[in-house]
Amino acid sequence: MRRILVTSALPYANGQIHLGHLVEYIQTDIWVRYHKLLGRECYYFCADDTHGTPIMLRARKEGISPEELVAKMHENHLQDFHGFNIEFDNYYTTNSEENRLLSEEVYLNNKKAGHIEVDTVRQAYCDHDKMFLPDRFIRGTCPSCGAEDQYGDACEACSKTYSPLDLLSPACSICGEKPVEKDSEHYFFKLSDFEEFLKKWTHSGALQGEMANKLDEWFDSGLKNWDISRDGPYFGFEIPGAPGKYFYVWLDAPIGYMASTWNYCKRTGMDFNKFWKQDDYAEVYHFIGKDILYFHTLFWPATLKGAGFRTPTSVFAHGFLTVNGLKMSKSRGTFINADKYLEFLDPEYLRYYYASKLTSRVDDIDLSLDDFILKVNSDLVGKVVNLASRTSGFVFKRFAGKLCDVYPEDGGLHDKFVAAGEEISQLYETREFAKAMRAIMVLADDANRYVEEKAPWKQAKEQAEAPLQESCSVALNLFRTLMIYLQPVLPHMSEKAREFLDLPPFTWESRTEPLAGITIKKFSHLMGRVDPKKVAAMQEASRESLSPTPSAAQDKNSKSESKKADDSSSEISIDDFLKVDLRVAKIVAATSVEGADKLLQLTLDFGEEIGQRNVFAGIKAAYQNPEDLIGKLTVAVANLKPRKMKFGMSEGMVLAAGPGGSDLFLLSPDAGAKPGMKIK
Ligand code: 2FM
Ligand code: ZN
Repeated sequence: MRRILVTSALPYANGQIHLGHLVEYIQTDIWVRYHKLLGRECYYFCADDTHGTPIMLRARKEGISPEELVAKMHENHLQDFHGFNIEFDNYYTTNSEENRLLSEEVYLNNKKAGHIEVDTVRQAYCDHDKMFLPDRFIRGTCPSCGAEDQYGDACEACSKTYSPLDLLSPACSICGEKPVEKDSEHYFFKLSDFEEFLKKWTHSGALQGEMANKLDEWFDSGLKNWDISRDGPYFGFEIPGAPGKYFYVWLDAPIGYMASTWNYCKRTGMDFNKFWKQDDYAEVYHFIGKDILYFHTLFWPATLKGAGFRTPTSVFAHGFLTVNGLKMSKSRGTFINADKYLEFLDPEYLRYYYASKLTSRVDDIDLSLDDFILKVNSDLVGKVVNLASRTSGFVFKRFAGKLCDVYPEDGGLHDKFVAAGEEISQLYETREFAKAMRAIMVLADDANRYVEEKAPWKQAKEQAEAPLQESCSVALNLFRTLMIYLQPVLPHMSEKAREFLDLPPFTWESRTEPLAGITIKKFSHLMGRVDPKKVAAMQEASRESLSPTPSAAQDKNSKSESKKADDSSSEISIDDFLKVDLRVAKIVAATSVEGADKLLQLTLDFGEEIGQRNVFAGIKAAYQNPEDLIGKLTVAVANLKPRKMKFGMSEGMVLAAGPGGSDLFLLSPDAGAKPGMKIK
């Protein structure tokens, strides 16, 4: 029998779980429940990711110890996961003794094998706070485009990446003082030692095709050694033999997968070493978001290999969540926390909706709230719940709850349903949940067609009793099979269905035996319709409940949904809007800007009253041939305060639509508009 160890990425202990995180936990939970339903030995391990500067500083701000903060968030996360029926076999913490010992072992083994080296690093240091500053704790002016108040690692205006020491007028984001430069010894993991191993591993079927290609790009650009140490003060594990130096949080975070396993093994008497030191004892799978691919497909297998542990069987990456086609946004009320959702809606609605969208690929998925309402109501309530609610009452009232003693003739439906289980199982196995849901709904349509044809509500008015009992028995059988197929996605509803049918726990295999001669209980409510008013209220409450950006500073990649969320405060008055002088402008010159990958320099003609203006616009990726723009009319802000940029003054701003990069479209007025016309 297969033995399978599954993990989801460990959520940071400094933030709440939101709908973006839940894509992954729901995806993983469905997969784990599927394996368990098939009788496989499957373990789902996770933990809180607790170390790093943001957690240390947040605790300081709240006047509590990092340990207290971490304990509080642990409870908070567990409650959210429980609310969404996400069932871990163990949910632990990276701030544990097991994790310390394992991190030391991974490090020391690698050191012994020659995979660690020490180098001096020049870094920004705050004399006031007495600490080295991670990139995201320094703000300043972008050296490339001149945009103000940018993080130390990359500019959000022009996307250029740089080192924090390159920022113009840098400031410590804790105290505002100017950082100084200081040398410090850092410990590096020699990733390049593992190039051959990693190339083999990535092409051994461990990764989705698209990911293996991404890795090839990384191999092509060369594997750089990885800085695994941070200077104190730092909330984390001190490096053995290096006082004042700590493991960088990303070194010990994935080791948390092992620590959670070990902690579970101690509780249950299993052998930890078999899981993580033996190659053939278990299959090991990590579910992750596409933003943390580098950590899981390069650093993680390499550190394991170098330390003599087994490497993962496979890493499954998923895309990001958008809501109504856009990034989650606090101002639009679409940055929805798990607990906020649960105040208004049934968790299984979301589980089903995500399942109906998830594939084995890395594509982003969209939660369209209108589609969510339609799909859940039509599929789950209209097709599945209705099957039972329309037929069970007759069985209960007319036949004392008893189904036919012999399963009746059903035109081959039962057999068809059982056979479909093969394909559905395969779809679950390969994480093609959207296809699995479609296959299940095709069966649900068959079952509903049967009920429509038999019309038990008409049969109930006729003399003969048998046809009514038969059609209801068939419908409830088919309903039972659907509930088995949906159990990984809808564990709660499936459990209620099992109770009402008064059956032992479902197994995948149990679908093959038709139900006959059993007595069911009174039908109890399984799931209500999604109320659009509640969806709107949830959005409204999410809009209100979120305060302006907390310290968004992070010293490592965070789930990009939260990192990139649009935190702008919501409304502006009409007066504010009227202050913007939007006008039609003619592009009379357009050229590339030397040294700026993203910028075009435009000369805009705003007509007689205003004249011509010079504007730098980050639209180069979308308009590779700038000369094509010459002569076009567009819409631009004419009264923007001129901004000094590295390449000159920018005296306006053109309006464009789209997500950015090459996917960007300049707005243009209809024919007849003239330069200088005001936008009304
Ligand atoms: O990106 C994140 O949210 C990290 N906390 C994930 C860590 S996964 C694992 F490596 F621990
Ligand atoms: Zn400071």
